Amino acid sequence: MGQERQLLTLLSDGRFHSGEVLAAQLGGVSRAAIWKGIRLLETFGLEIHAVRGRGYRLAEPLELLAVERIQAALTAAARPWVAGIEIHERLDSTNSYLLNRAKDDLPGGWVCLAEYQSAGRGRRGRSWVSPFGANLYLSLLWRFSLEATLLSGLSLAVGVALMRTLTALGTSELGLKWPNDVLWRRRKLAGVLLEFGGESSGLCHIVAGIGLNVAMPRYAEPAIDQPWIDLRSIIGSERLSRNHLAARLISELVTAFVQFEQAGFAAFREEWSCYDLAQDQPVTLQLPTTTCSGIARGVDEAGALLLETEAGIRPFLGGEISLRLES
Ligand code: BTN
Repeated sequence: MGQERQLLTLLSDGRFHSGEVLAAQLGGVSRAAIWKGIRLLETFGLEIHAVRGRGYRLAEPLELLAVERIQAALTAAARPWVAGIEIHERLDSTNSYLLNRAKDDLPGGWVCLAEYQSAGRGRRGRSWVSPFGANLYLSLLWRFSLEATLLSGLSLAVGVALMRTLTALGTSELGLKWPNDVLWRRRKLAGVLLEFGGESSGLCHIVAGIGLNVAMPRYAEPAIDQPWIDLRSIIGSERLSRNHLAARLISELVTAFVQFEQAGFAAFREEWSCYDLAQDQPVTLQLPTTTCSGIARGVDEAGALLLETEAGIRPFLGGEISLRLES
């Protein structure tokens, strides 16, 4: 375990620890080294109180992510499909990291989580606010033996996997805004960034990145540029373990990918429609260079949004399109 991880583990209870005791627990390092470690943790955005005579403590206790705890809580059906789980204290973006590693021979079913992302990415070039130890930032690599053209409904299937995870916690009033934003009373709880990479064989791999707001700290709020919500506000913090949530999410994701490989989007379409927040509602689609307004009429068998305008019903598909609910 790296020194910063050890320091974090010691501080994670939210109580005071003296510099002297911390130094001893880290194997006899100097108190200056502890001070440097504390400064480093602060660069992750963590709020640490330093009080003369008492030592250091985190402003809020933390449940750090732990590979063994996540692995132990995977469902039996998912376990064979999870090739490996790695957790980083800090990454620019878990998606960028996995996309890069996918060029090596990293197997499909590989999962990467980060406690903090310095450059978390959202859809359409937006950023994803990723404060330390508060939420889930997770990416899954999957290698498909299907051609990329058959994968169009996958991004909606990932939305269904998220909804399966969240409704199992007993949350209500959640829905999906095409293609896969999870909203609670019109405020964003989770987002999905799906990125494709080609292979010389003509097959492809994808990295599915999920950002799920669990307990957004106050200091991060001003950076968020859209209406948002976190799980803590919906269901209360007592029932939330990030490790358990990560395990449930990974389990649902791999199960959904296996299901998608076998049966395509057809296996998800009805379920997706049950969560569709835009069904029969006025919406505006923001396309790369223009907008288009009409009434949303569900999705077709490829996961394309069906938009009714005076010209009739037309399908819209693609990662660069976003939907705005108008009513
Ligand atoms: C969106 O709704 O705009 C998509 C947000 C996706 C955020 C996640 S966090 C984990 C993964 N790594 C990233 O850089 N982005 C995704």
